[in-house]
Amino acid sequence: MSAMRIVTTRQQVRALRDEVASRGGRIGFVPTMGALHAGHLSLVERARRSCDTVVASVFVNPLQFGPGEDFERYPRDREGDAARLAAAGADVSWFAEVEDMYAPDHCSYVVQEGPALDLEGAARPTHFRGVLTVVLKLLNVLRPAQLFLGRKDYQQTVVIRRMVRDLDLETEVVVCPTVREPGGLAMSSRNAYLRPDERKRACVLWQAIEATQRAHAEGERDPERLERILRSPLEACPGLTLEYAVVRDGETLQPLRGPVERGVCLVAARLGAARLIDNGLLPAAAPDPVLDPAQWAARLQTDG
Ligand code: PAF
Repeated sequence: MSAMRIVTTRQQVRALRDEVASRGGRIGFVPTMGALHAGHLSLVERARRSCDTVVASVFVNPLQFGPGEDFERYPRDREGDAARLAAAGADVSWFAEVEDMYAPDHCSYVVQEGPALDLEGAARPTHFRGVLTVVLKLLNVLRPAQLFLGRKDYQQTVVIRRMVRDLDLETEVVVCPTVREPGGLAMSSRNAYLRPDERKRACVLWQAIEATQRAHAEGERDPERLERILRSPLEACPGLTLEYAVVRDGETLQPLRGPVERGVCLVAARLGAARLIDNGLLPAAAPDPVLDPAQWAARLQTDG
């Protein structure tokens, strides 16, 4: 395997894209904000399976953080990320810089209605505007055949898919399963904000979702009763502030009426210094991969 290339400017990315196109190659793209964990690396591995050139971007995008959010303290680990991406099999890492990505007088944005307005969009009013604007820019520069996103950010996957459809982007969106720690906690860069005791309690998000999936599997179809099952362990968890716990349509994210045959449980809560989100499908899809601690400890080592 040849060594991973590191690029930092859009000009370098365009040159790379043209080089891949000239030999008829397919680019698979994994956009990230860095502080990479096993969930991100699973996206790189998935991309390897269907594309001959895998590009991962690392960019803490200021546009998607609201005032008072964690932009400044968001974990950053460039050297570690480069080593992890190389170990996972990325061909190129694009460490984008704010000065290269945004002109000082940048003033054009992607604003979406519909599924972007509620839930995360209501809690973080400029968040999806920032996500969609940067994702469109990244896609325009790189023009990948496929874009790989984790299902952990369920609403983000819906909103990005919509943009790709509505604006005729020629990239296929591939949504990949959440990767979980052994207790069920969804892997997230923001888990770094949790103290050890909080990390244990944070497993309640997945426990609540699993309880709802079990009730659904046993025949419960009433949306209000399903939401009550989802909410009750979260409301009982000490120190946890629940923002929302809802069962919605998996495509439109609208509330469901009548018998719920299919849907998605979506949860957001604050615990200590972290804001956590998680989700699970109804009916439950194939089980999410659970982190095998020994395997991933070896994979995540950055100094080997
Ligand atoms: O999911 C993320 O890490 C970010 O929202 C993304 C898609 C990389 C855009 O900055």
